[in-house]
Amino acid sequence: MDTITDIMQTMSYGPAPEDKSVVRDWLAKHEAGFGHFIDGAFTKPGETFDVMNPATEEVIAKVTQGTSADVDAAVKAARAAQKDWAALPGHERAKYLYALARHIQQHARFLAVLETIDNGKPIRESRDIDVPLVVRHFYHHAGWAEILADEFPGARPHGVCGQVIPWNFPLLMLAWKVAPALAAGNTVVLKPAEYTPLTALALAEIVREIGLPKGVFNIVTGDGETGAAITGHSGIDKVAFTGSTEVGRLIRRQTAGTGKGLTLELGGKSPFIVFADADLDAAVEGVVDSIWFNQGQVCCAGSRILVAEAVAKRFEQLLRRRMETLVIGDPLEKSTDVGAIVHPVQLERIRSLVEQGRAEGVTIHQGEAPAGCFYPPTLATEVEPASILSSEEIFGPVVTLTPFRTPEDGVALANNTRYGLAASIWSENVNLAIDVAAKVKAGVVWINCANLFDAGAGFGGYRESGFGREGGREGMGAYLAQPAPKAKRPEETPGTLSATPVAEMAASAIDRTAKLYVGGKQARPDSGYSYGVSGAKGAVGLAGLGNRKDVRNAVEAAHKAAGWGAQTGHNRAQVLYYLAENLSARAAEFEDRLKSFGQGGDAAKAEVATAIRRIFWYAAQADKFDGAVHQTKSAHVTLAMHEPLGVVGVACPTALPLLGFVSLVLPAIAMGNRVVAVPSQTHPLAATDLYQVLDTSDVPGGVVNIVTGERDVLARTLAEHDDVDAVWYFGTAAGGRMVEEASAGNLKQTWTEDGAARDWTSSEGQGRSFLARATQVKNIWVPYGE
Ligand code: NAI
Repeated sequence: MDTITDIMQTMSYGPAPEDKSVVRDWLAKHEAGFGHFIDGAFTKPGETFDVMNPATEEVIAKVTQGTSADVDAAVKAARAAQKDWAALPGHERAKYLYALARHIQQHARFLAVLETIDNGKPIRESRDIDVPLVVRHFYHHAGWAEILADEFPGARPHGVCGQVIPWNFPLLMLAWKVAPALAAGNTVVLKPAEYTPLTALALAEIVREIGLPKGVFNIVTGDGETGAAITGHSGIDKVAFTGSTEVGRLIRRQTAGTGKGLTLELGGKSPFIVFADADLDAAVEGVVDSIWFNQGQVCCAGSRILVAEAVAKRFEQLLRRRMETLVIGDPLEKSTDVGAIVHPVQLERIRSLVEQGRAEGVTIHQGEAPAGCFYPPTLATEVEPASILSSEEIFGPVVTLTPFRTPEDGVALANNTRYGLAASIWSENVNLAIDVAAKVKAGVVWINCANLFDAGAGFGGYRESGFGREGGREGMGAYLAQPAPKAKRPEETPGTLSATPVAEMAASAIDRTAKLYVGGKQARPDSGYSYGVSGAKGAVGLAGLGNRKDVRNAVEAAHKAAGWGAQTGHNRAQVLYYLAENLSARAAEFEDRLKSFGQGGDAAKAEVATAIRRIFWYAAQADKFDGAVHQTKSAHVTLAMHEPLGVVGVACPTALPLLGFVSLVLPAIAMGNRVVAVPSQTHPLAATDLYQVLDTSDVPGGVVNIVTGERDVLARTLAEHDDVDAVWYFGTAAGGRMVEEASAGNLKQTWTEDGAARDWTSSEGQGRSFLARATQVKNIWVPYGE
């Protein structure tokens, strides 16, 4: 036994194990196994699998492997309940969500202990972080239900949501998905991860306790196959997934062309950037919260420390000293900092990645971990950017440390990843910290803090970390469907084009031979071919037959024009006003062009007039579609910045060749994106006539690039291109499916619609929803009012 003197010297805590008797009794009550929770009742257990406590490797429960029949039953129940649930006044739905929050609070200790036993995370975290955030999420969304009709006028729920979640924050991920879905009037079928299904089942009991109408909340347990049965189910209207990028890609392909709403919150390899003037002690604590929180099994974990060379040695020393004080072991012990890894399979994955790093020559610093499913906090130094430890998401308590010279180098290293979930920046210089926050490609940025979360701020990634946000207004929006226009008759495929060699153009009787427009210059198509454009009275001209190479050149040119996104909204607005004025001056020419396609004089006049008004409207919006400041945690605010997506591929509808083009290209460029546009395949000349207008309006070269040709061929190339950040496709249903499938490569955002569905001449063709599509929100947490 320690003497008082020993204790004073080590300052270590005595044992303080959490009482687990309530959970033990609850598990004993369910010894026969758990069924699913469908239509307000638990089903009889079916074929079960074992769930274990990773810290002791004991089997603690048997849980049913969901079959497709189980999923069918759950979807059916959710469908049957949805209409009435959505028809309740928001205030009534809010009451249920408040009740859930209160009852979760009443069961907080039980849920925290159960989470720790099921997952292996320290009780300190499940008690002080996971469960309080769950409660906060339900309260926050009860509020959204209350005010939904005022805040989102005209919006309606998707219907039935299929939600699949991971094992790292089992109850919290459930809350993130279920609370906004229910607030919006959706019903849910949720599958918890197979390693950690127990708190979801416990919550089902609480749902029953508060008397939530049956069928509104359904839980089906099982593995990835059960997950796929949910995400692929034809009765599901919206899929929300959190988990690995690999499975996210599968789901993107699986849901392509189904019209289901989709949000993906995937992996990360987030940078933790320490500048020379940072408070190093605070930054060391930041690392602890970043990578040793939840054993590093956190999608937004700061797993790559990038530290200014001048302080790198000192920082490493401080960090290694701090590592030695971390307490690893029994997750139920109140003083434990690092608990058990969720499952031996995950432990093996971590081990194997670290050993691969070691074999590459990386230096590994780590202490001891207890026997069993534990892994010690690990620091990897002398790591090349190409090392597996720098690029792979390890999902364990393993962090790399890499020095950098200048802030520019730091930013370049930070962005040297296919992910873009989060970043943490440490500097006492406010200019530097905020400047770097603007430059890192990440959906969440923490300045002088790390891993802070709040229901009032959106969370979600850029790039291959997925799309969509959870939390805040954006998260609420993801559970609401905008009334989508319905096509009276679907868009037709304009068909394959027959090529005319360019050499024959000159000989042709037609003198108009439009080229492509790339990087602010007219460019001959790589193929050397053009195609005939016909109008009301036969041929009216020739347009370039663009191919993959032309698209690639256009994407390159668009990337070079990145400065457009960094300009002020005011500057962009001025350029767009000028564009509208110049088009206005040439209105008659454009009317003639439209008439040559067979439009009546009035229709042509109206199309040009609306296009001009629309350009003015987006010019006016360029400096007004602002983000927000969220009051989240005390001593912090969260800046929700609207950022451009980057390079957007746009495939325009066939009809209204000028207005369709303007309606899509303008919101994109107003928000600072650069565009590679494929104009109406049948009438591209209304867009190619814009070259001179663009030139004379000071639109910088590369901001708008135009590639004419076969819409679906060019759209495919755009959708497959890894340097394109989003594709908007307005064509056929089959083309939309193709675009969504092809987008899975880099998980670019897509917006696909039937090209004939929208009435571009009305308010359907313009609005803030277009600007929302053209932006992604970066949530930057800054210290405020400490
Ligand atoms: P996972 O992505 O396979 O599992 C997440 C959830 O998806 C689970 O509920 C699982 O049953 C379900 N699922 C699996 N395959 C599915 C499919 N085809 N269709 C629908 N649902 C499916 O992640 P896993 O296997 O648990 O972990 C593997 C690696 O993924 C980890 O080592 C880690 O690197 C990463 N990961 C990342 C997470 C994040 O939040 N970013 C969360 C969990 C894992």
